[in-house]
Amino acid sequence: MNLNLVVDLGGIKMANPVTVASGTFGYGQEYADLVNIRRLGAIIVKGTTLEPRAGNPPPRLVETPAGLLNAIGLMNPGVEAFVEQYLPYLRTAGVPVIVNIAGNTVEEYAALAARLDGVAGVAGLEVNISCPNVKKGGLQFGSDPEMAAQVTRAVKDNTRLPVIVKLSPNVTSITELAQRVAAAGADALSLINTLLGMAIDIHTRRPVLGNVLGGLSGPAIKPVALRCVWQVYQAVRLPILGMGGISCARDVLEFIMAGASAVAIGTANFVNPRVSEEVLDGIREFMIAEGVKDIKELVGAAHSV
Ligand SMILES: Cc1cc2nc3c(=O)[nH]c(=O)nc-3n(C[C@H](O)[C@H](O)[C@H](O)COP(=O)(O)O)c2cc1C
Repeated sequence: MNLNLVVDLGGIKMANPVTVASGTFGYGQEYADLVNIRRLGAIIVKGTTLEPRAGNPPPRLVETPAGLLNAIGLMNPGVEAFVEQYLPYLRTAGVPVIVNIAGNTVEEYAALAARLDGVAGVAGLEVNISCPNVKKGGLQFGSDPEMAAQVTRAVKDNTRLPVIVKLSPNVTSITELAQRVAAAGADALSLINTLLGMAIDIHTRRPVLGNVLGGLSGPAIKPVALRCVWQVYQAVRLPILGMGGISCARDVLEFIMAGASAVAIGTANFVNPRVSEEVLDGIREFMIAEGVKDIKELVGAAHSV
């Protein structure tokens, strides 16, 4: 059976709907011995800022019963080092590379967009307005619809690349945020980023994370993420990149049926580095078993009566 898995994520053409979530797959090279990264629909790189960032004080990671808490604090070498040292390898993978960008001010987002515009090998931008563990900026932008719209507009004004805006679930109404960001010109929406959480060490009687608060990811957040995709699909006519707790083909299919055009796998990469390829095989098996020729037939399928 001839299967069509091609999807269009706001102008980014992906050979299949499976990509990897920012911050959980480094710059691709780290996984290249374990995964055939050429099979991915796209690669989303680590959060990138204008200047290099050292990140938050350790400990930065803690496992909780059904998920991971992280407070990395966007440690990264900065956009210049990304373009010079990491992008050349990524270009050789032959799949679209989406750069996740983050800033402390609207101007920083605009400058990042301008710097990456026209750079060979960059297929699109994922705008992180939702990092829960960066004190200045991040959460403010992500939880205030007006600020979210301003950042979106500034990025759009400074690039011809497709712009995916990544939303936070740490808000009262994710649909309101999605509507404002859509009106400001976003080409696609990415949801969700991590949920704000914490853990306490009862022996030291102190918070475990150096940053006290962190972002919860993994299986614990899947139902919340799925709900967000469902609600936003009904409210906004933009392609959705769904993520949050995906660890198998069944999870991917749930996100697609809730309304995601493509999905990203994050924390599950730490448990099984080959998960993205296994998931892709699982989707194909499902399509063959159910007689689905085109993956697009399944996008939003759970909404129809
Ligand atoms: C260690 C770690 C680092 C992350 N770094 C970033 C980042 O730099 N930028 C970003 O937008 N999201 C970042 N995220 C959030 C993920 O991209 C993703 O939205 C979230 O983890 C939910 O997906 P998951 O449950 O499959 O991990 C990070 C997540 C983890 C676990």
